[in-house]
Amino acid sequence: MSDSFYITTPIYYVNDKPHLGHAYTTIAADVITRWHRMNGRNAYFLTGTDEHGQKVFEAAEKRGLSPQQHVDELCEPFKALWTALDIFPDDFIRTTEERHQRVVKSVLSKLYEEGDIYADDYEGWYSTSAERFWTEKDLVDGKCPDTGTPVEWIKEKNYFFRMSKYADRLRDHIAANSDFIRPKSRKNEVLGYLKKEVGDLCISRPKTRLPWGIPFPFDEEYVTYVWFDALLNYISAIGFHPDGSTDEFKARWPASYHLVGKDILTTHSVYWSTMLFAMGLEPTQCLYAHGWWTIEGQKMSKSIGNVVDPHLLIDCYGNDAVRYFLMREILFGADGDFSHMGFMTRYNADLANDLGNLAHRSLSMTTKWLGGVVPVLDKNTEADDALQAVADAAVDGYAKNIEQMQMSTALESLWSLVQAGNKYIDDEEPWKLNREGQTERLAGVMRRCLEICRVAATLLGPFCPNKGLELGAKLGCASLTVEGVGALSGLEEGAAVDAGEPLFPRMQELPERIQEVLAGALPAKAEEVAEKVATKKKKKEAVVAEETAEENQYIEFEDFMKVKLLAGRIVEAQKHPNADRLLHFQVEVGEDRPRSICAGIANKYAPEDMIGKQVVIVANLKPRKLRGVMSEGMMLAAGDAEIEGLVTFDQDVQPGGPVR
Ligand code: MSP
Repeated sequence: MSDSFYITTPIYYVNDKPHLGHAYTTIAADVITRWHRMNGRNAYFLTGTDEHGQKVFEAAEKRGLSPQQHVDELCEPFKALWTALDIFPDDFIRTTEERHQRVVKSVLSKLYEEGDIYADDYEGWYSTSAERFWTEKDLVDGKCPDTGTPVEWIKEKNYFFRMSKYADRLRDHIAANSDFIRPKSRKNEVLGYLKKEVGDLCISRPKTRLPWGIPFPFDEEYVTYVWFDALLNYISAIGFHPDGSTDEFKARWPASYHLVGKDILTTHSVYWSTMLFAMGLEPTQCLYAHGWWTIEGQKMSKSIGNVVDPHLLIDCYGNDAVRYFLMREILFGADGDFSHMGFMTRYNADLANDLGNLAHRSLSMTTKWLGGVVPVLDKNTEADDALQAVADAAVDGYAKNIEQMQMSTALESLWSLVQAGNKYIDDEEPWKLNREGQTERLAGVMRRCLEICRVAATLLGPFCPNKGLELGAKLGCASLTVEGVGALSGLEEGAAVDAGEPLFPRMQELPERIQEVLAGALPAKAEEVAEKVATKKKKKEAVVAEETAEENQYIEFEDFMKVKLLAGRIVEAQKHPNADRLLHFQVEVGEDRPRSICAGIANKYAPEDMIGKQVVIVANLKPRKLRGVMSEGMMLAAGDAEIEGLVTFDQDVQPGGPVR
């Protein structure tokens, strides 16, 4: 792979504020850039704003501003959003900038001189909203096939780019370069488009109709078609000029990736590639078309009122979680649905539970039992070797997938290790190792868990740069390097660890602001969400109850008080008729009759030694039969599978008295 990596997003129209779709592509470009940088490659990331054309002109008119005032104002929310999302492009190009306009004009002149741009009379159906001409057969019910709006018949002189001249070369290029258009399904779409005859492209608009654009250098009556102008941003930004480009341009072109939405693939694959051919430049290495997000099952649209403001998501969920969700939820290339419940579910499952628990358990047990420093590894057992194999496979899968723009699958691969880490804790039972004083093994087990956290912190970096660093800091890790990341031995022995606050606190319910937005925009949806939240809450309560049984989890005092512990005195004892392990007692607990209680302590005690012993019993356990004999309580004893000793009193106590 060449050292230079150049990635772009579309440049966004400044007819409105940025929305979720814009954030999506730009996050993807940032994640990939961060990954390449981590690997020491010379990555360059360009984004910007598309500031000419009909849509922008109309938006300015609506606001009663001059187009220039309007674009100067509206490019700012885009820049601000990238900062809020921790996205730092290397350059932000605006098509109204002089550096861009200069290149567009030079390209127009050059291609005009060379005969690839020519003037001709043009007649056709013009759609103002789609900013293009259509033929009679393109129309749907006499209207624009793209926007469904009325069209008007126009005859006028215009300038054309000789696109038809390069169509065969483009067909050959697509056939010879299987990775030029991705995903594959999109490539077939473009090939389908190219099966039809490719005409020349009308690239001018008379100033009388559209005064807002880059004027033609050789005919001041015309401005440049917005797409011809906009596509050139990919090379104007990095120093292209038809009369001599900069060294930077020579080093960076062809771009590695243009990330685009599926709706603008034709303009990129057909218009842009043929423009590049005409300029004597190589086409971009890969045009990657991603899918579209629907919102709560509906198309995102202003009229429905469901356009998602990324700032709301950042404020309510945090920017790392937003970045994670958008990259994880759908495969890059496929369409997907954004729903707040879906967000909460994934956030809780992946971030709060899987990763959050692994980090919290590893760090807090290390703090509690191992002095809060990175412990020493012990010799690998079979289970440890297996864990290392999972780590190797996870890192390998992550790298392969992210290199291929499969961000979601890369994360899935990383999560296979996070989940294996949690299972390793359950299997190795560090709490037991601690109790049994197996310090060396306890240290080894905890060290491997912390190592998995390090792998997660490192590979989470491109997706969640802040949380990655935060987790790294908790592990006493000054720098997270990707080289050799998968070896479960990379931490610094003795470095101080810090459990601190949870990395991703569990979300109990949707944030209030989100609930309000849902109720305002989609009342039916809000109701549905409220119902789902209630069911979820119930389920979660059950899970929480289960979790509290785990080591290092706490129960509330009220929960403890639900357990009725009583002092008792054994009045009868005998062997259980059907189980060698069990003894059967009658225990006096201050009630009108003694309780029948079975206990698994036959390994330690003979029945005859038990009469008169004072014991502690759990009196409100649901009675149940043990091997045919009713047991109406449980006797407390120390030990796990094997009983080590019965809990008794050092003073005489009253049978039936409460134990606290
Ligand atoms: N200005 C042109 C691009 C010129 S590139 C030389 C443009 N701008 S846009 O602002 O309208 O759209 C930018 C991108 O947003 C497109 O890639 C489009 O696919 C994407 N999205 C718009 N709505 C979207 C979703 N609902 N979901 C995902 N992406 C979406 O087109």
